[in-house]
Amino acid sequence: MSATILITGGAGFIGSHVVRLFVKEYPEAQIVNLDSLTYAGNLENLKDVEREDNYRFIKADICDAQKTLELFEEVRPSHVIHLAAESHVDRSITNPTTFVMTNVIGTTNLLNAAKHIWSDGKGVFHHVSTDEVYGSLGATGLFTESTPYDPRSPYSASKAASDHLVRAYANTFDMDVRITNCSNNYGPNQFPEKLIPLFINNIKHKKALPVYGDGLYTRDWLYVEDHAEAIRQVLFKGKSGETYNIGGHNEWKNINLIELLCDVMDDKLGRQQDESRQLITFIKDRPGHDRRYAIDASKIEREIGWKPSLTFQEGLVKTVEWYLAQEEWLDQVTSGNYMQYYTNQYAKA
Ligand code: NAD
Ligand code: DAU
Repeated sequence: MSATILITGGAGFIGSHVVRLFVKEYPEAQIVNLDSLTYAGNLENLKDVEREDNYRFIKADICDAQKTLELFEEVRPSHVIHLAAESHVDRSITNPTTFVMTNVIGTTNLLNAAKHIWSDGKGVFHHVSTDEVYGSLGATGLFTESTPYDPRSPYSASKAASDHLVRAYANTFDMDVRITNCSNNYGPNQFPEKLIPLFINNIKHKKALPVYGDGLYTRDWLYVEDHAEAIRQVLFKGKSGETYNIGGHNEWKNINLIELLCDVMDDKLGRQQDESRQLITFIKDRPGHDRRYAIDASKIEREIGWKPSLTFQEGLVKTVEWYLAQEEWLDQVTSGNYMQYYTNQYAKA
């Protein structure tokens, strides 16, 4: 395939798995990773592919409209997979403006650049989004592609705005777009601010496990490589202008997931049964905390033929093994500014 596939945010958690998949699967294509390397971007995530002939990294900020335009003129991508974003809900509560800048303005800059070089109508823009745009569910029900948008955090509001802009550009400028809205990802290379890697790191160091509120909040968890594969399939098999929900049929209340994680960690570290569960500490809730997310992924399964490949138990064991084997990676990302973030986020809880 002689495509040029531009992946934004390719040095981040999900982006690095998407880049790796495309570099390996499409040796004839050019895979260009555009990333500004914020705290969440880490080129160590791509050490194994950085020397491949079909891979190129460009350090650039999508908030810079002129630079983005120039890069599109130079690279002339045939496909864009847009993952660059501010992604952590707690940070969006502390600093909403950064989220509006990258997720709304940055996405608009990319759309303008794509519209500019695709004036011949050729090119596909795949926008990677979240199930959080649909809001919060009660005890029952699932998000479908037609669930009305009801974002409730600055993060989800900024992602909802970016989804609307992508659809508006498709409608107004006849661009070929697709949007995927996915549930909570977990797996290797996730920055340890998110629940699973944060708690793996804390269990390892026998630090308190800060559970927000009553711990009865529910999320649907999907292994990151399954998400990357879903993106690949939607890019090539999805229909123009369509939205596809992606999820794992894998709902967990936070406290039950944390107990399972403690047990897996105790097993891997050779600790006493129930030892790490003693670290569980209930703290002040996240403001505006969404109670439950759950995805109906039947459309992507039916129309594209994608489904998750791993059980949660398998994915969690693989994840724990990766973090325990990658001491250097974990030590590197948890040094410096991370400790400042951790103190600010959890000290007053
Ligand atoms: P992440 O925070 O790990 O990585 C984001 C990447 O974007 C980083 O490499 C960062 O350097 C880059 N970036 C940030 N601002 C940028 C800018 N202005 N210019 C260029 N690059 C910039 O995020 P993630 O968890 O990998 O999420 C990737 C995408 O998937 C996001 O759009 C997110 O909303 C979406 N998503 C995430 C999840 C999840 O569970 N993590 C679930 C569904 C959807
Ligand atoms: O649903 C998809 C979304 O999932 C993505 O769009 C986001 O980018 C991603 O960050 C994630 O958002 P969440 O807020 O659900 O993920 P987080 O890992 O921050 O929290 C998961 C749950 O665990 C949530 O109910 C809050 C809770 N939690 C989290 C942290 C960091 C705690 O109880 N304690 C914590 O310290």
